[in-house]
Amino acid sequence: MSKLKSVYVCQSCGAQSPKWTGKCSSCNSWNTFVEEIREKSGSGTDVRAFAGTGSKRQAEAQLLSEVATDLTERWICADAELNRVLGGGIVPGALVLLGGEPGIGKSTLLLQLALQMENRRILYVSGEESEAQIKLRAARLGMKQDHCYVLTETETTAIFRQVEAIRPDLLIVDSIQTVFSPLIESGPGSVSQIRQAAGEFMRFAKENRVPVFLIGHITKDGQLAGPKVLEHLVDTVLQFEGDRNHSYRIVRTLKNRFGSTSELGIYEMLGEGLREVSNPSELLLTRQWHSQSGMAIGSTLEGNRSLFVEVQALVGGSAFGTPQRSTTGFDQRRLSMLIAVMEKRCGYRMNQLDVFLNIAGGLRVEDPAIDLAVCAAMASSLQDMPLAGEVCFAAEIGLGGELRPVARIENRLAEAAKLGFTKMFLSEHQQIQHPPKGMRLEKAGRLDELIGKIF
Ligand code: TYD
Ligand code: MG
Repeated sequence: MSKLKSVYVCQSCGAQSPKWTGKCSSCNSWNTFVEEIREKSGSGTDVRAFAGTGSKRQAEAQLLSEVATDLTERWICADAELNRVLGGGIVPGALVLLGGEPGIGKSTLLLQLALQMENRRILYVSGEESEAQIKLRAARLGMKQDHCYVLTETETTAIFRQVEAIRPDLLIVDSIQTVFSPLIESGPGSVSQIRQAAGEFMRFAKENRVPVFLIGHITKDGQLAGPKVLEHLVDTVLQFEGDRNHSYRIVRTLKNRFGSTSELGIYEMLGEGLREVSNPSELLLTRQWHSQSGMAIGSTLEGNRSLFVEVQALVGGSAFGTPQRSTTGFDQRRLSMLIAVMEKRCGYRMNQLDVFLNIAGGLRVEDPAIDLAVCAAMASSLQDMPLAGEVCFAAEIGLGGELRPVARIENRLAEAAKLGFTKMFLSEHQQIQHPPKGMRLEKAGRLDELIGKIF
């Protein structure tokens, strides 16, 4: 027997070093090197022990024009939100990574996907839950279960033996951090194991044209655990996010070899599973506040989707010497900047006032097009004058108090019209080709001018 080889691997970026060092020279993170045993003696590097991967095909160069494009073939699943983030359905042979924080609903989403695909054979491999637990969850989702196999196993060779026996059309692995390859000696969840196991699933997916979904955990600092190496390897990276105190869940495409990365899927977590939300603005807008001051509706883009959110502001006298500035779902420094603009350019006196700002619904908004709605909400609260229920706002505000045009205004206007808004406040520089019928556009060049028009 040969000696075990060991190497130090950075757990953050996967860099290797023959000896331990405190700081990784490639990603600059500290204290991330962990000793890992590289290879088991005698096993070689042949991981083609499972079905269909035994043949070592000799690759030949082909003319690009003659390469068959089977990428157009996609399985459209029942879940329209998932189709959207995958770029139009599941591509056979694709390796998809779904990342997210614990408890956000990853297992639920993929089990639901498995149960929805009634005319295909699915194998759901779990290293985290027992068969009975999965069964309980499936019962809770209340769907047919005749076509879905479950397996609790963490060793890849054993998983591939079952795959060979069942020959599923789709394989789901929950989670990549729990599975391990016996060909490598380091523990499950380590970088080498994750890379090795993911590599084996990748080869299986490509050679058998079976789509594989891997679930991945996210570490404390928001990175996909098991780490960048995995993101490079897989075809598609989806991230499941949301505020656990709210019921919305958002699936974002971070990487997609088969489609756009600006896609977004929205779900609502209910007692009986995840519900697709095809019209998110209706969920985000309550519209029960017509007579209250400090509320304004702003337009924001999430990926390619136009959403309307409720901005709530409360501006009032401060009990202490230093006024408070507190935000939920909005950047605090941006709020400070907008307050400064309102003071300097519009003549409001706010330096002794508390300002609380909230984006209703738990969404985090980064689109600057929301600026105008934030200022309108603050002005409304300051003057204690409610805004009309059918108006909405879309403009960025500059330091000089000027209103700036926003991107993709056609999308925003169409969504506004669909939701029943009849008036939108905009920058006078905004170019609009085809304004929707029944929508009045109120344009202004500066914030003070616009506030004069609102009240
Ligand atoms: P889960 O899919 O286990 O999360 P993950 O795999 O990302 O860790 O989802 C866990 C949460 O979802 C759990 O707190 C309970 C909740 N949940 C519902 O609200 N409704 C449901 O129908 C299901 C199955 C779960
Ligand atoms: Mg889970």
